[in-house]
Amino acid sequence: SASEKGGWSSFMAKEISEEPEAIAKTLLGRITDGAVHVEELEPLRDSLAEINRIVILGCGTAAYSGMLAKYAIEKWAKIPVDVELSHEFRYRDPILDEKTLVISVSQSGETMDTLMAVKYAVDAGARTLSICNTQGATIPRESDAVMYTHAGPEVAVASTKAFVAQIAAFYLFALHLAAVRDTLTKREISGLLEELQALPDQLATVLEQHDKIKELAGWMVDTSAVLFLGRHAGFPVALEGALKLKELAYIHAEGFAAGELKHGPIALIEPGQPVFVVVPSPRGENSLHPKVVSNIQEIRARGARILAIAEQGDAAVLPYADVVIPIPLASTLFEPLLAVAPLQIFAMELAAAKGLDVDQPRNLAKSVTVE
Ligand code: G6P
Repeated sequence: SASEKGGWSSFMAKEISEEPEAIAKTLLGRITDGAVHVEELEPLRDSLAEINRIVILGCGTAAYSGMLAKYAIEKWAKIPVDVELSHEFRYRDPILDEKTLVISVSQSGETMDTLMAVKYAVDAGARTLSICNTQGATIPRESDAVMYTHAGPEVAVASTKAFVAQIAAFYLFALHLAAVRDTLTKREISGLLEELQALPDQLATVLEQHDKIKELAGWMVDTSAVLFLGRHAGFPVALEGALKLKELAYIHAEGFAAGELKHGPIALIEPGQPVFVVVPSPRGENSLHPKVVSNIQEIRARGARILAIAEQGDAAVLPYADVVIPIPLASTLFEPLLAVAPLQIFAMELAAAKGLDVDQPRNLAKSVTVE
C-alpha cells in the first residue's frame, strides 16, 4: 500500500532514500573511542589472529560488496582475499583449511547457492562468518559468527540499501581486523572510522539529486544499450550500475574495468553510445583520475555520450562530459558508497519511465532459494 511505501512511488524509491540510515544503523554501537567493537565477532576472536587467507562468497549485488571488501581488507589488514560467486566456488574443488576465513554476504541469508557454498566451507574445516541483513536466517545459523547489517527489511527485488549496509559492515570488519593484526595505527583506524561515520550525511546530499537523475533517465527511455566504466573502487560500482539497469529496465548493460577498455569494449563505442563513467577523485598521489580522464577522451572522440559521476569541483571532467553527477569529497574506498546511489536511481527511474514495475521486475526473485 501507499502508506507502506512512506509516500514514495515504490519500495525501491523508499529503500534508496533509507540508504543513509542503513549505513548509520549498521555502524551504530559498533564504534567506541575511535575503535571497532563488534561483540558478534567474539566467536572468531582466536581465529582472526590466525587466519592467513579470506574467501568472500555471494551472488548478485552482494558479491559486488565483496569486491570492495577485498580492496579494503587487503589495504588495511594485509590479508589476501579472494571473492567468488558462491555457485562457482563450490563446484571447482577450492582449497580451504582452518586458516581460511570464509565470509558469506547475503541480504536474505537464504540464497541457496550461498548456503550450499557455506556448508561446503564448514565441511572443509574453514572458519565462517556471515554478513546478513535478516535476523535468524539460515546462512547465519550455519556459520561460526554473524555480523548483521541493519538496513531494515528490504522489499524491492533489486537490492539497494542492503548493498551500502554490506559495504559499511565489511569496512568495519576490515578495520577491526587491522586492529587485531596491528597493520594500522590506532590513529589511522580512528581517522578512517570518522570518514565512515561521515558518509550518511554525505550520501544524503547525493540523494538530493534525485530529480536531476530522473530527468536524465526520462531522456533515455529509447536507449538500447548502456556501458558503465569504473576503475579500482569504481569498478564494482560500474558492475552494479549495469546489473541494476538490466534487472529493472531490461536494457542491455555491461560494466567494465576502465583499464580493460582498450582490450575490447572500446570496439562497442559508436556515435551516441551512452557510457556512465565512475571517475576517481583527482586528489591523492596515486590517483587513477588521469587514466580515467584519458579513457573518457578516447571514447568521447569516438562519439560516446559521457555521463560522469565525479567528485564535486573536478574541473578536468567538465569539458568532456555531457552530464556530470557530482559526489562529495571522500577517500577512494569510501567513494562507492556515494557513487552507487545515482546509478540505482537512474535504473529505477528509467524503468519507471518505461512503465515497468520497479519493485517486481520480470523473471527475478528477491531471494533465490533454489540452486
Ligand atoms: C537475487 C536478488 C538480488 C540479490 C541476489 C543475492 O538475485 O534479485 O537483488 O543481490 O539475489 O541475494 P542475497 O539475499 O543473497 O543478498
